Amino acid sequence: MSHHDQHDDHEHGEHHILSNAMGLKILLILIVMTVLTVVTARIDLGHLNGPIAIFIACFKAMLVILFFMGMKYDSNDNRAFFASSFVFFGVFVVLTAADVFTRVGDWRTHGPELKATMMKEIQPKFWEDSEESLKRGATLFKEQCVTCHGSEGHGDGPASAGLNPKPRNFTLTADWKNGRTVTGIVTTLNKGLGSMPSFDNFPLPNRFDLAHYVLTLNAEKPATPTADQLKAVGVLDPSKDDGGLAAGGSSKSIPIEFAIDRYVEASKK
Ligand code: HEC
Repeated sequence: MSHHDQHDDHEHGEHHILSNAMGLKILLILIVMTVLTVVTARIDLGHLNGPIAIFIACFKAMLVILFFMGMKYDSNDNRAFFASSFVFFGVFVVLTAADVFTRVGDWRTHGPELKATMMKEIQPKFWEDSEESLKRGATLFKEQCVTCHGSEGHGDGPASAGLNPKPRNFTLTADWKNGRTVTGIVTTLNKGLGSMPSFDNFPLPNRFDLAHYVLTLNAEKPATPTADQLKAVGVLDPSKDDGGLAAGGSSKSIPIEFAIDRYVEASKK
């Protein structure tokens, strides 16, 4: 009869052969745990989903290491050697997590909360201008637009030299291709225009902030946009305070990390 299942004290260098029965048992456990991983991944357990998946994965890895790789029957030296690499790996993971998960403005780890805050703070009716909106717009303008449009909006920024046609001079009212209106400017930011890139990775409310600010560079007040014009540039439902963005959200309104960082910075001021 076989004596494979007994934990003989093997001498260094001897190779333990796993019995078929034992191998099958471990394999079954691994399969069950794989099913468990899939099942738990489909249930929303909030913050627990990650840790549970990692726990199951570690448990499975441990079984493979102990039985299939024979660590259970190996010498203590080898075990210590092997375990220490995991200890160091763990230290790296913990240190990295301590950094990443405490970054307040990081969209990857705090995205949903940041988006909620963003929607709350920019509401209500972000498409109407306000003092805060103009302040955010001014900050974003300095960061994103002056290289081409110039610090006073004359279209004479350092990067304008090689451009044809030149960046728009915001202090003049004539010849705007998309119209000198809030929604006209948001259209330009949504789609870009000629050599001007699109800024549709910015949250929609921030694109309105920019439009409001740009319109202050000439004293002439433009027409107030209609509901249809607002819808055309991405406000899903102008009858709602948040424009329908918080609930429905358009894919364009999902802020990338960059835009969120800008927004968090601007909202601190
Ligand atoms: C890479 C240079 C560049 C940057 C950066 C840039 N623009 Fe422009 N912008 C241009 C150019 C060039 C035009 C003129 C395009 C044309 O007339 O074909 C233009 C035109 C415009 C217009 C006029 C559109 C119309 O109806 O004629 C608006 C509004 C505008 N930009 C806003 C902005 C804002 C706001 C920013 C910052 C978020 C910005 N731009 C950043 C190059 C730039």
